[in-house]
Formats: sequence, C-alpha cells, structure tokens
Amino acid sequence: MVGLLLPAALGIFIGLALFFPYFRKLFFLKQEASNIPNGSMGWPFIGETIGFLMPHKSNSIGSFLDNHCSRYGRVFKSHLFGYPTIVSCDHELNTFILQNEGKLFQSSYPKPVLDILGKLSMMIVTGDLHKKLRNVAVGFISEFRLRPDLFCHLDKMSISVMKSFQQQRQVGFCKEAKKYTMSVMLKYVLDIEPEDPLAPQILEDFLTFMKGFVSIPLYFPGSPYAKAVKARARLTSTLGDIIKGKEESGAEIKKGDFLYEILRKGNINDEEKVSVAIDILLAGYETTAELLALVVYYIGKSPSVLDQLKEEHQALKRRKKDGEPLTLEDYKQMKFTSNVISESLRCGNLAKYFHRKALQDVEFKGL
Ligand code: HEM
Repeated sequence: MVGLLLPAALGIFIGLALFFPYFRKLFFLKQEASNIPNGSMGWPFIGETIGFLMPHKSNSIGSFLDNHCSRYGRVFKSHLFGYPTIVSCDHELNTFILQNEGKLFQSSYPKPVLDILGKLSMMIVTGDLHKKLRNVAVGFISEFRLRPDLFCHLDKMSISVMKSFQQQRQVGFCKEAKKYTMSVMLKYVLDIEPEDPLAPQILEDFLTFMKGFVSIPLYFPGSPYAKAVKARARLTSTLGDIIKGKEESGAEIKKGDFLYEILRKGNINDEEKVSVAIDILLAGYETTAELLALVVYYIGKSPSVLDQLKEEHQALKRRKKDGEPLTLEDYKQMKFTSNVISESLRCGNLAKYFHRKALQDVEFKGL
C-alpha cells in the first residue's frame, strides 16, 4: 500500500528502492546530450537488463547497482527492458519524482511488463481511471483492516501454520509465508477458504506470474515470461468466474468484503473488477510474505530482539482474559513489534524498483 511503502522507499540508499524515470531528453539525444548522466547503454536491444535482473541477496542492492553507483554516481543512464532509462538511487531525486507524480512524472511500465500486469493494472493506468480503481482498492483496504474478526482469524491461522512446522525437520519459510498470505488474501478478497481446491491453483498461477515479472521479457515457448503471460490470462478467467458466481449467488455480502466495495462503487465494469482483484491479491500477498521472511531472517540474527518481542507479546497475553481474541487495538499496542517490522522493511529490499516516465524535459541539480 502506498502509505506503507513510501517511508521505506524514501530511505533510498538504505531502503534500496529505485525509480526509473524516463527522461525525455534520452529519447531526443541530440538535445543537450552533455546533460545526460553518465552510464552505459550496454548491448543493442537488451541493453543492461540481464545484469540488472541478476539475483542478489535481499539485504543488499546487488553488484549491478553497487558497481554502477561507484562508477557513475547514484544517478546514471542505462538501457533496461528495451528502453533508454535513467536509474536513480538518489534519495533527493526520488523524493522529487514522487512529489511531482502526475505533474512532471507519471507511472509508465515498459510494454513487456504491461503485457504481464494487464492494461487495467493500477500500476499502469493513469488519470481518472487510476483514481477510480485506486478508490475501490483503498476503500476495501481501509474497511478490511477494521473487520472485527480479522486479527482473531490471523492469529488462529498463524498458530495453525506454526503447529504444522513442528512436524517438519526443515521449513522453507518464504514459501510457507506465501501460502499463508495468499490464504488470508483469498479469504478476505474472494471469500475462498484455504481448503478450497481453487486456492493452491491460484497461488501456483501467482507464483508463475511473479517469476515472469522479474525475468528477461522474451516470449518463447517455456520462457518464464511466456509462462507468466499465460498465468495472468488463467487468473483473469478464474477470478472472473469467481466474482460472477458470487454476484449471481445472491449470498450476503458483508461490509469489508471486496465484493461489497466493487458493488457499492457501481461504475466499475467486469474487466476492471477482475483487474483490481488481481492487483490487490498480488500486492497484498507477495510483499507481505517477503516481509515476513525478512523479519524472521533479521530476528534470527538478533537474539536480544527475539527476547524483547517475546516480552512484549507475553505482557499483552497477561493483560487479556483466557481465550479473549486478538484485536486491532492489541496490535496497535505492540510498539516494539511494529518497529521490528518497519526496520526490516527499511533494511530489506522488497520493492527494488519502479518505473516513472518524465512528461517533459526535467532538470535536476544541473542534469
Ligand atoms: C511490505 C509491504 C508492501 C510493499 C513494500 C509495497 C510496495 C508497493 C510499491 C513499490 C508500489 C508502487 C508501484 C508503483 O507505483 O509503480 C505499491 C503499490 C500498491 N500497493 Fe503496495 N506494498 C506493500 C503492501 C501492500 C498491501 C498489503 C496491499 C493491499 C492489501 C498493497 C496494495 C497496493 C496497491 C493497491 C498499489 C497500487 C497503488 C496505486 O497505483 O495508486 N500493498 N506497493
């Protein structure tokens, strides 16, 4: 959610988020070419995309950015995802870009990314359509966190997942976290229970979708990119059927349900409903699962943090009556827990980059 992400993204050099503004000057290289930051355009067509996408540890910016920043500075030119690009790891410039969203810059994803996300994705659309879809998503997110059963349900699900770990000699935590967050999102967005046969199928499609999202965008049979485009099409059809089925069933739709939100904001068509559902499921499950994995990773390295977390949780338990469910108010009181989450978000690297296009020539600090 944007409110969540910005504080982390603005910690740029520590938080490791990146922006990709497409300065128009780069498309018109004859204009004041000397003002373009240093850098390398790499190979024809693929530019430096392969180096940029090389996997690296989540608590580092990776060797590509390390090398480029030390060679060219925190703002450099490159050629990524088929386009000339300015890469900024500069806190001030990134703040400037975000503050001028819709004025000097707008969200703009390269065509291959667009083919995966879909033309109605909130990360792609701009202007009034973006406002309309965002309104639905934000309406749902703010209602859903107030649902009285949410924290109690999350608590029960976490305990049951942790119990299942006890029977295993080794746990692939990030994978398990993804199953957990997908179950939560499916329950609250589409009212699908974890044991529903559709749940693992939808998770599988999202996993394929994400692999292709961060892969070289080459469409040939069997490539991660081609698999992702197909997975997206399957998700569109599965979620479309589910939403239609729910709408036609006449079953009670509660406040805080995604369906309540899309029906209340009546001016949203079937294609847009499915696209918002995919956006929310994707945005909510992938980032949250990776954040959980990062938190566990950092806690594993700091026994004193673990002790302080236990202390905070046990103190909360002592204040509650036996069997009394966990609530939003309890969650708000867990100050240390919340700091641990924020610090993991700041030190880890969840949203490595996002794309922006310059709407007119932009000068920043003489560049
Ligand atoms: C640690 C957790 C999260 C991180 C790091 C994160 C990161 C991001 C980033 C970087 C973007 C901006 C992409 C762009 O503008 O190009 C974004 C947008 C968005 N996120 Fe999150 N996110 C997180 C959690 C969530 C959750 C839990 C939800 C919903 C349940 C969510 C819903 C959204 C939505 C709807 C957008 C699109 C907003 C718009 O275009 O106006 N995010 N997120």
